[in-house]
Amino acid sequence: MATVLITGGTGFIGRHLCQQLVAENWQVIVLTRSSKAGTRQLPDDVRHKVRLIESLDQLEPELVIDGLINLAGEPLAKGRWTAARKEKFYTSRIGTTEQLCAFFSARTQRPKVVISGSAIGFYGGGTGDSNGDNKPVDESSPVVDNFSHQLCSSWEQSAAAFEALGARLVYLRTGIVLGHGGALEKMLPPFKLALGGPIGDGQQWMPWIHIEDMVALIMHCLSCDNISGPVNATAPNPVSNAEFSRTLGVVLRRPALLAMPALMVKILFGQMGEELLLQGRQVIPRKVQDSGFNFQYPLLQQALSNLLAIKK
Ligand SMILES: NC(=O)c1ccc[n+]([C@@H]2O[C@H](COP(=O)([O-])OP(=O)(O)OC[C@H]3O[C@@H](n4cnc5c(N)ncnc54)[C@H](OP(=O)(O)O)[C@@H]3O)[C@@H](O)[C@H]2O)c1
Repeated sequence: MATVLITGGTGFIGRHLCQQLVAENWQVIVLTRSSKAGTRQLPDDVRHKVRLIESLDQLEPELVIDGLINLAGEPLAKGRWTAARKEKFYTSRIGTTEQLCAFFSARTQRPKVVISGSAIGFYGGGTGDSNGDNKPVDESSPVVDNFSHQLCSSWEQSAAAFEALGARLVYLRTGIVLGHGGALEKMLPPFKLALGGPIGDGQQWMPWIHIEDMVALIMHCLSCDNISGPVNATAPNPVSNAEFSRTLGVVLRRPALLAMPALMVKILFGQMGEELLLQGRQVIPRKVQDSGFNFQYPLLQQALSNLLAIKK
């Protein structure tokens, strides 16, 4: 049985990933800030099959760790980006990654594969079609500099040390993950009350991915020896924010016409609103598609119908 160490394993993506890893017979170890809280967060079917640790020193020297999946990070979309929260975004991601690198440098046994977090924010801001910002963005596209780019870039650079340790290193540039929990849960209430609609002019792109495809894509990166470097974890058909709102309205059978003006977004959410809600680029998953990965939910309407049908 192969062993994988996960940070952020108690989170929205991590919980689903733990289930799949256990189903595929991996021994799963989750590094968490609190084993007690983490145990409660894990799904019932895997709670007692996953080992939770609060410190890397708990890993026995003779234990072979085959893979490392590094997802831990203070949530970005919880509120305004104050200086204190920005600092937490960095320490929770880059600080954690540096600790992992230092721990494994001092160890003779090291993971053969490291999958480390990043986000589509790496590519920086874009305001969409009406502004001529309509080019597909793959893993080799140029970036636009902003805070999201700087954070993702620093996160990726902090993981680069694993390459020097001989690991195959993948950076997951993740889009908006759709599932029960996460961003969709926050979007649903206004849409269910027929109070939803586009944000700003709705032209900004919203690259998204169904949680099942997200987990399958991570499993693909774990096992596929010829994948390394940045990997866009997004569905092959990104949509504009206006199209996302329209599709969500159709699936919920509610009108989705109430636009939220850009100025209101800026006043309510500041820089977080500008970068996460009013900007977005047309990110496509070129690398995994070229490697033969098949998306179960390539189209938004399919993904939302699947998720919202289960919820009813
Ligand atoms: N979900 C998305 O749509 C999406 C999109 C793009 C990128 N991402 C990135 O992918 C990663 C996983 O996403 P997710 O949605 O699963 O995140 P999540 O549900 O917010 O979980 C993140 C995990 O990180 C750990 N964490 C949170 N705050 C921390 C802090 N201040 N210091 C150290 N650890 C902390 C927590 O683990 P413990 O409590 O067990 O310590 C938590 O379970 C995140 O880094 C996120 O930025 C997610």
